[in-house]
Amino acid sequence: MSDRKDLIVGNWKMNTTHLEAIQMVQKLFYRLAATDHERVEVVVGPPFTSLRSIQTVIEADNMPIGLAAQNVYWESEGAFTGEVSPPMLAALHVNHVIVGHSERRAYFGETEETVNKRVKATLAHEMKPILCVGETLDQREADQTEEVLVTQVSGGLQGVTPEDVAASAIAYEPVWAIGTGRHADADTAGVGCGLVRSTVAGSHGEEAAAGIRILYGGSVNAGNIKDFMAKRDIDGALVGGASLDPDTFAAVVRYWV
Ligand code: 13P
Repeated sequence: MSDRKDLIVGNWKMNTTHLEAIQMVQKLFYRLAATDHERVEVVVGPPFTSLRSIQTVIEADNMPIGLAAQNVYWESEGAFTGEVSPPMLAALHVNHVIVGHSERRAYFGETEETVNKRVKATLAHEMKPILCVGETLDQREADQTEEVLVTQVSGGLQGVTPEDVAASAIAYEPVWAIGTGRHADADTAGVGCGLVRSTVAGSHGEEAAAGIRILYGGSVNAGNIKDFMAKRDIDGALVGGASLDPDTFAAVVRYWV
């Protein structure tokens, strides 16, 4: 057992109006009533349009639920139509920012360079990045998994101090396991997360590698979470589809119950 606290993050992707989001977080709060929050940190990542509403609800009821944004731009302000800046998110008490999700890499042209800029901008504004990495099916079948993970981990964290790396999180999300119902088996996920940690050890040192939390993502649900969490290098999960139902997400969070 490490002293890293479990981190379970719900990535709601492009789902929910702000009215639906409010209901979801309220339901989740009730479902988590008996949860040991010393053991697990719970975070929800709604669309930008719901951040303000959820922040208000969380703070009004003092809910032990953190807030994540799904993306961020690296400049603080200016003529960047349609973008959202780090200070805007920090002002909403956003704690974490999901950076470089494979959907953003595949559909919105994210590169190692832009992912790295977003990671650094997030940290510069006292928020924690959740850097997403993972290979496609083609890359796995071509035996390129290790190369892809090393490139994405070291590229994403380039120029970040070891202290900041230790406070960050990386989500290993094999692209072929996302939204497919075809999750990686726990051994494969554990090996991938171990590779991520050893890459961090190589680039930023053992202390950074011992501190950073590494999450598995890809078709995580209430039935398989326990197997993932049993792996030494898996500290939590980045949950897509199963985070949209508060009952299911609460069961994922309370995986040991
Ligand atoms: P699913 O849990 O729906 O497979 O999505 C995983 C994911 O992309 C989380 O960021």
